Amino acid sequence: MLETKIFHTNEIKEAAEKIREGECVSFPTETVYGLGADALNETAVSKVYQAKGRPSDNPLIVHVSSKAEVAKYAKTVPAVAEKLMSAFWPGPLTLIFQVKEDVFAPTVTAGLNSVAMRMPNNEATLQLIKEAGTPLVGPSANTSGKPSPTTAEHVYHDLKGNIAGILDDGETGVGLESTVLDITDPSRPAILRPGGVSKEALEQVIGTVYVDAHLVSADEVPKAPGMKYKHYSPEEPVVIVDGDDKVWEEAIAFYQHKGEKIGLLANEDRIARLQSDDLIPFSLGKEGNIEMAAHRLFAGLRYFETTNATLILAEAFPEKGLGIAYMNRLKKAAGAHFFGE
Ligand code: TXA
Ligand code: MG
Repeated sequence: MLETKIFHTNEIKEAAEKIREGECVSFPTETVYGLGADALNETAVSKVYQAKGRPSDNPLIVHVSSKAEVAKYAKTVPAVAEKLMSAFWPGPLTLIFQVKEDVFAPTVTAGLNSVAMRMPNNEATLQLIKEAGTPLVGPSANTSGKPSPTTAEHVYHDLKGNIAGILDDGETGVGLESTVLDITDPSRPAILRPGGVSKEALEQVIGTVYVDAHLVSADEVPKAPGMKYKHYSPEEPVVIVDGDDKVWEEAIAFYQHKGEKIGLLANEDRIARLQSDDLIPFSLGKEGNIEMAAHRLFAGLRYFETTNATLILAEAFPEKGLGIAYMNRLKKAAGAHFFGE
């Protein structure tokens, strides 16, 4: 067992020291907390997989503190990349580049000839990377299969005793992981995972962007068949409700009849309308506010584990803009289970 230290943002030097010693330290970003380790130290990277219980054939994102660093690790930096980095970095966009040979251990890239890189929009973490003097691998800092952490407390809950520290900078912003964009073929940029930067926003900068639906991978091995669902999963089953209050009432009656104790993961207006003593609510914010819903989704899924809810009914959002990423994560949590389907 390791003692998991909580580092505050005035203790970045101490946190960086742990990274240099080859230990894992969780870091805050604008999306979710990452599980950091020296990307150039194979032993340190292997500790990340151990701490998370993550299959080691799923490649990691390398977090850098400047756009200039990319050229050290990418074989080439195409013009599309320059445009995207100027427009969206630091920010929730991960770019997949062809990788220079022999820079990273196969555990970082899962032996692929590409590498994922991003510059997170969090001052403390950019400082941490600079102080450590090395880029950081950083999968989401949850136990594999669980919802990604959006607070230092979530990380502590999942990984205490397994990692050296957590750099605590409060709640994350976006609340869902970054958009992963494959630009290994610069003439055909393709979204592998929807996230904080929408397809529309990308297209305004670089023109047509493709979506590789079969590749959409959040915590999955790219192109891996099967294993598609059941990620981000709380202990309780999740059922998505797509409809008006009448549909919600039907869903509540249906599951209560089966003896379920229902957790309501819905907007605050709907909660106010449907609330009764039998229901356990967690608010996703104001009706129709997708930013707030994305920000709270993972915290909500985790919240019900601390209650006696046996089933979660969760609010659907229209699949446009950030709603695409929100529904992608919710469908995985729910095993794509919609009420009435
Ligand atoms: O917002 C985020 O991206 C967070 C924060 C901590 O930065 N990180 C994160 O990492 O979500 P992780 O490991 O949970 O997800 C990385 C995703 C996975 O779906 C992985 O398969 C994909 O990126 N990925 C990484 N390297 C890749 C590569 N070379 N080719 C294709 N997909 C890759
Ligand atoms: Mg993850």
